[in-house]
Amino acid sequence: MFNLIEIKKKNVCIMGLMGSGKSIIGKDLSKYSNLKFYDTDKEIELKTKKSINEIFEEYGEAYFRKIEEKICLELLTKNNCIISLGGGSIVNKKIRKAININSYSIYLQVKLNNLENRLKSSKKRPLLNKNFAKKETLENLYNQRRKFYEKADFIVNNDNDKIQVLEKIMLKLNSYAKENIHKK
Ligand code: S3P
Repeated sequence: MFNLIEIKKKNVCIMGLMGSGKSIIGKDLSKYSNLKFYDTDKEIELKTKKSINEIFEEYGEAYFRKIEEKICLELLTKNNCIISLGGGSIVNKKIRKAININSYSIYLQVKLNNLENRLKSSKKRPLLNKNFAKKETLENLYNQRRKFYEKADFIVNNDNDKIQVLEKIMLKLNSYAKENIHKK
């Protein structure tokens, strides 16, 4: 089991597009590592007492991004947590800076076809509820965001087997912890 207390970084952040499996992987990692799990969208819903869809519908995306910034920056000051970040949060410079300061970041990379399939019946993603094709929207978002996602400390493909992905992440975090234990 990796020990974040022994390394310099304080949290593990999971990043990636909608449907890349951030919450599932984050929850499992939290079980295996005994670290607390946070999902930024869940926290936004708890704080506002509204669903992400309702926030977008009633107040618009710009308002959502403001709350997202606040919640992410708050969560990123915590210690020793696994944090699954909403797919668009990485576009925000302050959030990127906060991740770099105190987190080990992991990007879950998934092929657009697979994302499209996974999100086919999802009604919880306001950016995909519009009339145009989901794949095109996802492709545009990917093109805008990949330069940020690809700066993650670790990039892992999450197209197939979840168990293998978890093993890869755990191995990586363990070796990262070992490499950094003496650098404190
Ligand atoms: C968004 C991703 C969603 C949610 C909101 C906007 C985005 O989170 O924050 O619908 O801009 O990619 P997930 O990535 O957890 O689906």
